[in-house]
Amino acid sequence: MDDGLARTPPMGWNSWNKFGCRIDEKIIREMADAMVSSGMKDAGYEYLVIDDCWMAPERDADGNLQANPATFPSGIRALADYVHSKGLKFGIYSSNGTLTCQGLPASLGHEEQDARQFAEWQVDYLKYDFCYSEVATSQIDKITVAGVDYEAEAPENVLEGEANIAYCSNCSGNRFVNGIGEGKGSLLFTNVNVPKAGTYDLVVTYVHRERWNNPQAVYVSINEGEGTRLRLLNPENQRDAVHTLTVPVELQAGKNTVRFYNPYTTREITVQNYKRMSDALRATGRPIVFSICEWGTHSPWEWGPEVGHLWRTTGDITDSWASVLDILDRQVGLEVYSGPGHWNDPDMLEVGNGGMTLTEYISHFSLWCILNAPLMAGNDLRNMSDEIRAILTNREVIAINQDPLGVQGKRIRAENGLEVWAKPLSGGDRAVVLFNRTETPAEIWVTIEELEESLRPLAAAVPGAAGKTGRGVYVARDLWEHRESPIDGRVSAVVPPHGVAVFRLMKRG
Ligand code: GAL
Repeated sequence: MDDGLARTPPMGWNSWNKFGCRIDEKIIREMADAMVSSGMKDAGYEYLVIDDCWMAPERDADGNLQANPATFPSGIRALADYVHSKGLKFGIYSSNGTLTCQGLPASLGHEEQDARQFAEWQVDYLKYDFCYSEVATSQIDKITVAGVDYEAEAPENVLEGEANIAYCSNCSGNRFVNGIGEGKGSLLFTNVNVPKAGTYDLVVTYVHRERWNNPQAVYVSINEGEGTRLRLLNPENQRDAVHTLTVPVELQAGKNTVRFYNPYTTREITVQNYKRMSDALRATGRPIVFSICEWGTHSPWEWGPEVGHLWRTTGDITDSWASVLDILDRQVGLEVYSGPGHWNDPDMLEVGNGGMTLTEYISHFSLWCILNAPLMAGNDLRNMSDEIRAILTNREVIAINQDPLGVQGKRIRAENGLEVWAKPLSGGDRAVVLFNRTETPAEIWVTIEELEESLRPLAAAVPGAAGKTGRGVYVARDLWEHRESPIDGRVSAVVPPHGVAVFRLMKRG
């Protein structure tokens, strides 16, 4: 988004990777202290974000989200004030669904109210998850008007497109109509009879066949008039759950038609709902970074730039080498979507959580830096080892990530587990990561010709990114060894298994 926020990838700390739901205000305060005393703040880490599980199981009497009184007894505002008093910024979490991923209250249908609440609490960053989000397909069992039941599967109804009759043990007549919505299925009741014109209660009996079902968005239209959007909830998340929703409708005397449909796809509904929170945040007038956590489900890189400042490109990272490789491979090709104010987010850092070797953590960190990933540390900052601190606070590597041009790096070569990643930097410098995925040490190299050839499309799009070809045009600085050497036409290193060598190629003249 072009609102001055997140001009470089956001940096900070988030509670999820290390603590999950085991968070409380003491931990968060101590983490704020540690972020300053460990040197993380000086290295650029700024946002301290509380992930899932900060909220009470119920909203308050006015429908406001509230902090869990057992774990956050002083409330969120006091915590935000504390974090701000340390010179840091404060972030919080909610979900674009009826519940968070841990089953706590979330913001779907409460966007404006919750955005106002976050702004009052002085929130600077919102991570917005995707559990229990709305889908565009609905499942109708029957409707009832003036005491008369009309079964969805009745022969007089018209099923269009992908709408179809399906079995359900709890439905009346053991049948319901499935496949309504996604712009390609509708159900038309053709014969809803009332004695005289007026306002009637339309009772919609609907089904949620699967457990963990998401709320269903459906439009209802009377006599082919303008549709009204309904949200069919499944509050207990039960399988085969049958619920009713009552809506007032205007009917004419005699025969009426009632159509259920959805002109939108689930992808469109998803974008609309993220946009609703984005607009609500903006309407508060407070600058709030909006982090879209949609797991890459509906190619958020395509719509994310208009909606938020960053978007997750994949499912959750775990503290394992396999997870780093899996996520890394899914970033290939996404570099064209990222830039100042709108970043691909390959998920938060696991550096220091214990599941990888130091070499692997150095690779994870270096690769996330060249990907222009948001750098959200996820370890316990209160007791980091010196080695882990040195990784997370390597300013020269961070400078690759925070380069003002904001061009995401790309994989320019991958051969037998040996990879070269590169990105243009301001002033015509280049960042290069030589990455060895294999189990044996290997020499990896790249020539300036190949580098410039591969980066040309990315660099051409951005003023100030032009590089240079030819011999002796760059000096290479090794950003983990912290030393410089002249190079003659190519940069190379012997790289350990699972390791990287990271260079800044500095343009000479
Ligand atoms: C996931 C999300 C994680 C974390 C978790 C909390 O959906 O991707 O990063 O926020 O929910 O429950």
